[in-house]
Amino acid sequence: MKKFSALLIVFVLAVGSLFAGAQAEQLDIGLAMPETHVERWQMDGAALLAGAKAKGYNAEVNYADAEQAKQNQQIQDWITRGAKLLIVGSVNEGVVPVVAEAAEEGVIVIAYDRLITNSKDYDYYITFDNFKVGQFQGAAIEEALNLKNASASSPKNITLFAGSPTDNNAYVFFDGAMSVLRPYVQSGVLKIVGPAPLQSSDPAFTRITTENWRPEIAKARMENLLNADAQSVVLDAVLAPNDTLARAIIEALSSDAKYVSKLPIVTGQDGEVASIQYIRDGKQYMTVFKDTRNLAAAAIELADALLKGQTPNIQGARLDEESYDTGLKKVKAYLLQPVNVTKDNYKAIMIDSGYYSEADLQ
Ligand code: BGC
Repeated sequence: MKKFSALLIVFVLAVGSLFAGAQAEQLDIGLAMPETHVERWQMDGAALLAGAKAKGYNAEVNYADAEQAKQNQQIQDWITRGAKLLIVGSVNEGVVPVVAEAAEEGVIVIAYDRLITNSKDYDYYITFDNFKVGQFQGAAIEEALNLKNASASSPKNITLFAGSPTDNNAYVFFDGAMSVLRPYVQSGVLKIVGPAPLQSSDPAFTRITTENWRPEIAKARMENLLNADAQSVVLDAVLAPNDTLARAIIEALSSDAKYVSKLPIVTGQDGEVASIQYIRDGKQYMTVFKDTRNLAAAAIELADALLKGQTPNIQGARLDEESYDTGLKKVKAYLLQPVNVTKDNYKAIMIDSGYYSEADLQ
């Protein structure tokens, strides 16, 4: 009998420690990234995961292939597993019900890079100054086409592309770019070829957007323009919102005889390795680098403070409590600074900083 109870105690202790072990394995932080067809998200995901683990959190990253239903599933799974905090780069507004579910369970949600619109169930948003991203794009076109000294008697031609209509950032990027370009359109110095919204609230904006930031959509639209509105003109510039779309647009332009020797000025964003090569080779004019290492580190700092019940103080980010309204409430936005990249500084910004190695740029 004694032997039996001793065994029983050992058994109970063993099961107990197994159970404790299982509890320790419980998830702390879920990291939801929207897609992988745009390269940056894989870097965001990796940096977030490493950052969370370095602070001792049990974390997991998932990618949604630009499908909100898939991301919602991933998030629900994390809520069930007891996650305490979620960092969400959403696909679209369809994420709102699971954010509400998280809030009900007391799970903190941080909107990552993309604002989650029409939700009242989260308080924090961390991103780059996205209006500034657009301003850099507009200013690059202004400078490259020398718009300050151009005249309405020989206007420059531009065509406009925007990101996904389901992504709040697409509106902000466009408005930033047009804040620089609009006066030149209004004075007749810059002529828009194709649909011509002057701000994202214009109805024509929907005609220049690119669903889910899909490059094949932008390429097809550029090809159509080349055979229609842009057929009888030579384009001097194309406003492209990010690198993935910029390269798709350049691909379309390159198969038009008119642009074989000289491409229009094409903008971009993200500092994708293939676009840095294009910039080096003079095919893409510029990009805007948003260092995902910094955004991820800042997001983990924010998460850590919130999980510990502390007031966040995020190094290198500007707190803006006024500008970001989901439609249902204002959220606290932490904004990091983007960097303008051209042929002149790409080495310093992209390579000397260790983001890419020389070998990456073959
Ligand atoms: C991000 C960009 C990215 C785009 C497509 C935006 O929300 O801010 O960096 O290029 O989504 O993934």
